[in-house]
Amino acid sequence: MNKHEWIKINFTTLKHVFLLLVVTTFGSIIALYSIATTDRQLWKPTAAKKFQILMYNEPISPDYIRFMKLGLGQENCSNCDVIEQYDGQDTIEYDAIVFTFNRIKLTDPVFKRRHPEQLYVWHTIESTSTVLYFHHSSMEGYSGVFNLTMTHRRDSDVWTPYGTIPEIKNALREKFSPLTPEVLNEVVNRKKSLVVWVVSNCGLTLGAKRRLEIVNELKKTKIGSRLELYGSCGEFWKSFKTTKSGYEKMNSIIQTHKFYLAFENSYHCRDYITEKFWQNSLLNAAVPIVWGPKKNEVLEVAPSGSFIHFEDFKNITELADYLLYLDRNDTAYKEYFSWWFQPNEDIGPLRLCKLCAILNDNNRKPQSINYFESWFYSNEHGNCLLKQL
Ligand SMILES: *[C@@H]1O[C@H](CO)[C@@H](O)[C@H](O)[C@H]1NC(C)=O
Ligand SMILES: *[C@@H]1O[C@H](CO)[C@@H](O)[C@H](O)[C@H]1NC(C)=O
Ligand SMILES: *[C@@H]1O[C@H](CO)[C@@H](O)[C@H](O)[C@H]1NC(C)=O
Ligand SMILES: *[C@@H]1O[C@H](CO)[C@@H](O)[C@H](O)[C@H]1NC(C)=O
Repeated sequence: MNKHEWIKINFTTLKHVFLLLVVTTFGSIIALYSIATTDRQLWKPTAAKKFQILMYNEPISPDYIRFMKLGLGQENCSNCDVIEQYDGQDTIEYDAIVFTFNRIKLTDPVFKRRHPEQLYVWHTIESTSTVLYFHHSSMEGYSGVFNLTMTHRRDSDVWTPYGTIPEIKNALREKFSPLTPEVLNEVVNRKKSLVVWVVSNCGLTLGAKRRLEIVNELKKTKIGSRLELYGSCGEFWKSFKTTKSGYEKMNSIIQTHKFYLAFENSYHCRDYITEKFWQNSLLNAAVPIVWGPKKNEVLEVAPSGSFIHFEDFKNITELADYLLYLDRNDTAYKEYFSWWFQPNEDIGPLRLCKLCAILNDNNRKPQSINYFESWFYSNEHGNCLLKQL
């Protein structure tokens, strides 16, 4: 992975994606790419072959595509071209086609004319709950259409996490290099403020409504004004412009705080751990206070000892008291950063690199998702699909 790129994309990327999918203002950030389409000899893998992966209806934010392509070019995924915008070519010429969940029309010709060797890939970065209740994504007729799923859920064929330990560590090294106890001391000593939250979705989803209630309760504890709110969900909230420099400003503000509220817009949705955790919190050396995903799922992917989980506390007062305790005890606070000094584990290919590795696997068996809805919805946690929280 190119460390430098990761830094640049960290927040903006995922923010743009979020805006694109949830707020659906596509126009301004769509960039058109023209990609040389050479070497399109299909379905007979040879050493020289380059596989063609088409992002069929991606909203092309350059940051988003860069994020999806992280790691592409490494061992086992060095021979794939990613075509970032459908260019009108006969779709049968692509080896894999990636479809974004909220823009799929099964009546499109691409679903009629297809070769059995092509991989049709279904992709979302939104939680199951948002897909169901916000986008009302009907999956009627999806059975036997797609070959692979590509989502933040680990039960997908291609996993597209918002972040991983090695990526965040590399990015941290770029920022604070090297990661030593002395550097940690400096970083912590610069923190003069306690808790911060930045939010844009004030209640479009059920989880977004609930988290706002929790934050308002936290405001009423002893923490009070030491919880700073950025966004536009209330009259006393501070704001900054949503430009690139606005995001840089946001990151520098978060860095001066000890804790960040990594509150998701969805509750108990499988593996839905987003940029709020990885980029906003960990990459700004703020300890995430997690609400949304189940604790055991966070434990399985997060750096060990790196976060506080909301559900570990009986009530808000207890949480507030604990944060104030950590504020007084630097030794205890710094224990949340012990992962900075631990070795990384290799987690193998991800995102488009993983899709490319699948294309390269000569022993791969044909596969299609025959019960699409039941994979997506029945494999989800019950709480995620509640209509009331
Ligand atoms: C590449 O694929 C081979 C064979 O499947 C595997 O042994 C190796 O670990 C893979 N390399 C990476 C970096 O994943
Ligand atoms: C919160 O829980 C603690 C026990 O852990 C209890 O002593 C306290 O009264 C509770 N506070 C509220 C406001 O419910
Ligand atoms: C501060 O934290 C350390 C490490 O967790 C702990 O050993 C120590 O007892 C704490 N000190 C106080 C005064 O609570
Ligand atoms: C992809 O799915 C289609 C539709 O179910 C199926 O006909 C085809 O064999 C699958 N291809 C591969 C390579 O798995």
